[in-house]
Order: sequence, then C-alpha cells, then structure tokens
Amino acid sequence: MSENDYLAEKLPGIARGRLPRHIAIIMDGNGRWASRQGLPRMEGHRSGAKTLKKMVKECVRLGIEYLTVYSFSMENWKRPKEEVNFIMNLCVDYLTRELPEMMDDNVRLKHLGRLDRIPVHTQKQLAETLKKTEENTGLTFSLALNYSSRLELVDAMRIIGEKVSRQEISPDDISEDVVSEHLYTAGMPDPDLLIRTAGERRISNYLLWQIAYSEFYVDKICWPEFEAEHLYAAIRDYVGRDRKYGGLSEKM
Ligand code: FPP
Repeated sequence: MSENDYLAEKLPGIARGRLPRHIAIIMDGNGRWASRQGLPRMEGHRSGAKTLKKMVKECVRLGIEYLTVYSFSMENWKRPKEEVNFIMNLCVDYLTRELPEMMDDNVRLKHLGRLDRIPVHTQKQLAETLKKTEENTGLTFSLALNYSSRLELVDAMRIIGEKVSRQEISPDDISEDVVSEHLYTAGMPDPDLLIRTAGERRISNYLLWQIAYSEFYVDKICWPEFEAEHLYAAIRDYVGRDRKYGGLSEKM
C-alpha cells in the first residue's frame, strides 16, 4: 500500500502537507506499566521496545520524515545498575534485530547524545547501525541515548567558542541557525509534535532548544500500551491546532 493510501485509510481527511514532519516522543511509564501487571520493571522496558518497533513502522507507513525518541537520559544513570545494564543490552538487541527491517524500510538511524559512559558493546552496535543505515533516505529515526539537552547546548557552546577563539567565526555571526547547526540534531527540522506518554507534563531535559514551537501532546497511556491508534489521535489533535509562532492566527 502506498504512503498516501495508508494515510487516507488511517487518518481520513488529513492531507499529507498537514502531517508533522518531525515527531519527538518521551516514552514514559514502562516501570509503572510493569508494576501494574505485577512484573519486574525490566519487562516494562522490554515491552516498551516492542512499542518502539511498532511506532517506527507506523511512521514509515505514514511517510513521516523524522522520529526522535528519548530512550535514556543522562539522569537515568542514577537508576540501579541492573536496570541501566538491561536498557543498554536492550538497545543492542533492538538494533541487531531491527537492522534488516530498517534497511528494507529505508530508515536512517541517528544518535543524539554523548558516547562516553555508554558501554562499549552498545557503542559498537550503535556505530555499526549508524554506518549501515547512513545512506538510507526514508524516515530519520533518532535515538536519544545518554542524552541531556542542557549538555547538548554546553557541547555546542564549546565548539562555537573554540571556533571563535580560532577566529573562524566572529561572535557577531553567532545566530540561531549557527547554534542549531552545532547541536546533535544539526540538519534536522525542529519537532512539530512532541508526545509524552504516562501523563506527566514535564520536558525532562529533552530537546529544549528544538521544541521552542513544538505542539505538546500528553497521553495518559503508559508507553508499553501505546498503540497506532494513540499515535493517530496525537496527529489528529496536532492537525487541529492553530500554530501561530507568536504571530496572529491565520483563521482570524
Ligand atoms: C521511561 O519509563 C523509559 C525509559 C527510561 C527507557 C525507555 C526505553 C525503552 C522504551 C526501550 C527501548 C530502548 C531502546 C534503547 C531501544 P520509566 O522506566 O521511567 O517508567 P516509570 O516512570 O513508570 O518508572
């Protein structure tokens, strides 16, 4: 089925041009979902990885250009070692298992975050998947892993500062575009729609610069039970918003 037929079937009445180009997700509630089922937290993450696979596929089918997910924050290092190791191993399993489908679906993987502290075997798998998918031209799927938005800005400022000290650029040339070009998300459009599951209304140090004008959608559903229908509901809600970017509504 073509992307347009799929869109017409799943989101009738929504023109392709109204779709968000970039969807960012805070995949929250794995632990809560697991404890409600009487399962260990790890099962929540395992189930969350299955949801992630489904959402990547949905974005491919709908023809979304960018999907960015928060899979491990710098703050998550505070969690028990067992849970941290589990998520890092899950990442290796996920990338290994999903590579053939990512290739079939023309998905390009990107990593957002610092590499330090990520275990070597996870770094290796990440590097291998980045390399193998780098020529793909369909969905850009970004994994924020060992990510902190504030540190992303610090890293950008350091690089810009070094360029200034080498006189490659002058302080007067530092613009919003220059800052954007030095973030991990360089070259990507800002998210149009930011979805957070499990009901919290926090940003949690995620894409602070990039979400200046994103539309925020909170779903009460925990990530492991987030289905395609919930994604469609978020997109329908987004399409119904009036994005004014600080100006006046076109509808007025
Ligand atoms: C937040 O839920 C979720 C995480 C910190 C991990 C997200 C990981 C996945 C969805 C699995 C896929 C991962 C990779 C790397 C491919 P939480 O544990 O904070 O939930 P809680 O707030 O209910 O405890």
